[in-house]
Amino acid sequence: MQRGKFITLEGVEGVGKSTNLQFVTDWLREQGISFVQTREPGGTPLAEQLRELLLARREEAVDPTAELLMVFAARAQHLAQVIAPALARGDWVICDRFTDATYAYQGGGRGLDRALIAQLEQTVQGELRPDKVLLLDLDPEVGLSRAANTGAADRFESEQLAFFQRVRAAYCERAEAFPEGYAVIDAGVSLELVQQQLRRELEQLV
Ligand code: TMP
Repeated sequence: MQRGKFITLEGVEGVGKSTNLQFVTDWLREQGISFVQTREPGGTPLAEQLRELLLARREEAVDPTAELLMVFAARAQHLAQVIAPALARGDWVICDRFTDATYAYQGGGRGLDRALIAQLEQTVQGELRPDKVLLLDLDPEVGLSRAANTGAADRFESEQLAFFQRVRAAYCERAEAFPEGYAVIDAGVSLELVQQQLRRELEQLV
């Protein structure tokens, strides 16, 4: 049995992740590829509870290391319960955010040490890494003005522009450091052109 492919979708708030996720899953269905669609933080009942704790706005300042450990606690559960079993039975997994978001948000955004993140990544994931990270890239100023219209802001969405600029920079740094694992998709063009780029990347994975 061949292991399934593990694809993640990443990007700063407002890049059009939901619409493009729908495009990716429609494409997989058209190809007759059996897949599991999931998200982080979340993907199991326990991990979804951790997600609620992470996103809730609160009076108490959240310590960045506490935030980081909660993200990885959710990830460990999600991997054990959903991702690893799906890949083992040959399904593809398409995950809305994964560890690159940790490097971007907790590393870039919060300024945590990348070596600490790498240590936790190794402990929680062993050798497992995405086969391809689809990174939707857009100037956060443009992204945020799009995202501003969509309901109450959670704890991350209520951060300032400079935070999202650090997040974007951290995503781009990783894509440059490991070019074979990433597809940087220009999300500043028409939806049709964004999806053309996505299709090209997906076709190379089959
Ligand atoms: P979403 O709104 O795209 O579902 O993502 C939820 C939020 O969680 C988003 O603002 C980014 C944040 N996040 C992290 O800070 N670290 C992580 O490792 C992940 C997966 C998400």
